[in-house]
Amino acid sequence: MTRKKPADLRSARWFAPDDLRSMGHRSRAMQMGLDRADWDGKPVIAVINTWSDLSPCHHHLRDRAEQVKRGVWQAGGMPVEMPVHSFSEQFLKPTSMLYRNMGALEAEETLRAHPIDGAVLLGGCDKSTPALVMGAVSMGLPFIFLPAGAMLRGNYAGEKLGSGTDVWKYWDERRAGTISKEQWDGVQGGIARSYGTCMTMGTASTMMSIAEAWGLTLPGASAIPAPDAGHKRMAAACGRRIVEMVWEDLTPGKVMTRASTRNAVTVAMATGCSTNAIIHLIAMARRAGIPLTLDDLDAIGRTTPVIANIRPSGKDYLMEDFFYAGGLPALMKELSDKLDLGVLTVSGRTLGENIASAVNYNPDVIRTLDNPVYHEGSLAVLKGNLAPDGAVIKPAAMDPRFQVHAGPAIVADSYPELKTIITDPDYPMTPDHVLILRNAGPQGGPGMPEWGMIPMPQALLNQGHRDMVRLSDARMSGTSYGACVLHVAPEAFVGGPLALVETGDIIELDVPNRSLNLRVPEAELARRRAAWTPPAPRYARGYGWMFSRHIEQADKGCDFDFLGSEFGAPVREPDI
Ligand code: FES
Ligand code: MG
Repeated sequence: MTRKKPADLRSARWFAPDDLRSMGHRSRAMQMGLDRADWDGKPVIAVINTWSDLSPCHHHLRDRAEQVKRGVWQAGGMPVEMPVHSFSEQFLKPTSMLYRNMGALEAEETLRAHPIDGAVLLGGCDKSTPALVMGAVSMGLPFIFLPAGAMLRGNYAGEKLGSGTDVWKYWDERRAGTISKEQWDGVQGGIARSYGTCMTMGTASTMMSIAEAWGLTLPGASAIPAPDAGHKRMAAACGRRIVEMVWEDLTPGKVMTRASTRNAVTVAMATGCSTNAIIHLIAMARRAGIPLTLDDLDAIGRTTPVIANIRPSGKDYLMEDFFYAGGLPALMKELSDKLDLGVLTVSGRTLGENIASAVNYNPDVIRTLDNPVYHEGSLAVLKGNLAPDGAVIKPAAMDPRFQVHAGPAIVADSYPELKTIITDPDYPMTPDHVLILRNAGPQGGPGMPEWGMIPMPQALLNQGHRDMVRLSDARMSGTSYGACVLHVAPEAFVGGPLALVETGDIIELDVPNRSLNLRVPEAELARRRAAWTPPAPRYARGYGWMFSRHIEQADKGCDFDFLGSEFGAPVREPDI
């Protein structure tokens, strides 16, 4: 391997020349109290930080940035902390998904415009992982992803509580009148006890695991609980390692290959991953120039059992338990036969070398392939005349009796309309009905909000039912569960077949055969299509206007068309 020399550093173009502009760069570095000994011949490492005062999952990242810097100094680099958008899943409206690509763009251009040689990316709350990875891959500098880590297990009255999953569960019980206001308040105070991401296998844990499986984190990084002292040591280790990666010129293209992408998908399926993973996997892979389709994902899902016994796909455990059981290295060891162990990772070693000494300390948490939680992967891709470009369902987290189902549709065109249906205790329906929410996709939502786990209607809750087939062009939270068909593409807002469904039409779902159909004659559908008029645009100015013009459909990963790796010639390095 040829190592870079100090003169080859990208940052040297800013700092080294004996000319007017570089004098300006040096004098402004000195304005911050730095001097030549800090930058001369040293890789400049961006610590890309998604901390903010409204991002509870990233509340510790200010301190972690300090630990990363400690590692960078130790290894002979110069760290610079660069804040970017914080992706606060719980507070961003209408949905954080509206801002994933904006954050990716921000990360990419932050790296490009500054004198940076390599980066450590600090994130974890749902969209932050794909956004940072997408931006950094498009820029192409060496980087390591440092997962924020999950929060501690929730706790109330001796009960273990899981993020999201238990909120939905207790909310249904509250509406059914089986728990008191006092108990509900207790759950509110106990469900998020520390900083860190949601500690179920929701989107955050899924995406952090995917980053590790892809080779983009140091070994074991994705499962360390955020408050664990080991998390600080991991942060410093990332700081040390990124300096070496710059000298080795270990760029993301050498790590994100077809083989490592396959590993990432396989591990996602085995963890019982969030449905959101599908969109983000496709988007990240496409940024790396690797074509990945829904069919590829379904094919890997069919042959990969869920072996992580973590809610919501698993029954009993949470991310903290997963860490104690050995975390992702132990899970990947169980999956060894299905992975390409020869791929290179940011550690500078192969995946096989990274997991060679991993041990599964609890085979009930991390199951073996012959004793899985679910016999297939977490997600299934459906196609048919209702979803020509695909839809997604999570068979592992639904009542199995709905896997093959036909029932009449009840259609809501908007969330307010849906609300009147689900809150009416006398709404005429049975568990055989299929409840549809449309105009909630990438354009329609806007931003494809997590409305896809449509709350169980009051009318059915009162009869004791806890699941039914629900269908939308929205996404759902990774912590959700139920017979929810999601990501129907093309979405209704742009005239996909979902726009043509009428209340009373029969919907046919067949998960084993991966089909989703609308039992309405083609002539009648053609009549409805001719009568359909597109809804008014969601935005007339601003970011939303740009979003609406460039957002792609769910099966393509919901990236902006102009950010795709195949769109136009590569961006030139800035003139200095
Ligand atoms: Fe941040 Fe769930 S809200 S990970
Ligand atoms: Mg979430």
